Amino acid sequence: MHLINFKELSGQQLMEIIDKAIEVKHNPEKYRTALDGKSLAMIFQKTSTRTRVSFEVAMTQLGGHALYIDWRTTNFTIADVYDEIQYLSRNVDCIMARLLRNADLQVMAKASRVPVINGCDEKYHPSQAIADLMTMKEKRKTLKGLKLVYVGIHNNVCNSLIEGCTKTGVQITTVTPIFNEPSRDEELLENAKKTGLWKTTTDVKEAVKDADFVYTDTWVDMEFFQDPKFAAEKEKRIKLMMPFQINKELLEGSNAYIMHDMPIHRGYEISADIIESPNSIIYEQSENRLYSAKAILLKLLEKH
Ligand code: CP
Repeated sequence: MHLINFKELSGQQLMEIIDKAIEVKHNPEKYRTALDGKSLAMIFQKTSTRTRVSFEVAMTQLGGHALYIDWRTTNFTIADVYDEIQYLSRNVDCIMARLLRNADLQVMAKASRVPVINGCDEKYHPSQAIADLMTMKEKRKTLKGLKLVYVGIHNNVCNSLIEGCTKTGVQITTVTPIFNEPSRDEELLENAKKTGLWKTTTDVKEAVKDADFVYTDTWVDMEFFQDPKFAAEKEKRIKLMMPFQINKELLEGSNAYIMHDMPIHRGYEISADIIESPNSIIYEQSENRLYSAKAILLKLLEKH
C-alpha cells in the first residue's frame, strides 16, 4: 500500500490513521520499538522543514531509522527513477518522496517493493492533510459536521484538504480566486462534488461567517518563491490575492480557529497579528505533523 493521495483510502481507513495519530501523541512509550530495525528513505527534490523533521523524528521515536536523501546529490539526476527505486526498495522498508512531479511519484510507486509516501508534489500533500484533520478532531472531538473554509490558491494542499474533508464528513468551502493549474485533478474534484460536502465561492466574507476553521496557505509554491522567472506571476498573484488575506477585518465576528500548513509568509496570505492570536492553532497544527507521520508509518509498515 502507498500513500500518494487519498484515492485508495476509505473514509474509515483515513479516520483510523487520524485516531492513531491522536493515540500515539498521548502514548509515545507504547510505540518506542514499533518500527525496530526499519529504515525510511526520504528523498527531497524540493526544500522542506516540517516534512523532513517530522518523518525523521518519527522514525527515531518509533525505534527505526531515516535517511535524508537530497535528490541533487544522488544518481536520480542521471538515471531512470524506475531503476533507482528498484534498487532503493531492496534496501529500505519505506520511501517518502517530495518531488516536483506527481508523474515521477507514480513511477516510484510502480517500481517500489515497499510503501511509497507522497511528501508533497504539485498535486497532493496527504501527510499535511492528515495532521490538519487530526488537529481539527483534537479541538472539536469529532470531524463530522465541522466546517472548514480554505482561503488561498487552489493548490496541492487544497486538493488534499478537499479529499480528506469530504471523506471524513467535514464540510469544506474553498475560496480560491486563482487555480494553480499543475495541481488540477478533475477526478478528485468530481468525487468531492458527489459527496455534497465541497463548495467553492469567491465571497470570502460570507464563507468565513459560520466557519469552525479558517485555513490558508502560501500564494506561491515553494519551488517558485525565489525564482526570478516567476517574479511577474508572483506580483500578479499578490495583487489579486491581497483582498483575500486572513486578517482582523475579514475575521470580524468570527470565532473560527485559524490554520496554516506553514511556511508562513507574514503580511501576505495572513497578517502577523492573526498568526499569534488566541484562535490560531497554527503551531499546534505543525507539531501534529510528527504524530501524523508516526501514524502513517505505523499504518504502512505494520504488516511488512
Ligand atoms: N507544511 C509543510 O509541508 O512544511 P515543509 O514544506 O517545511 O515540509
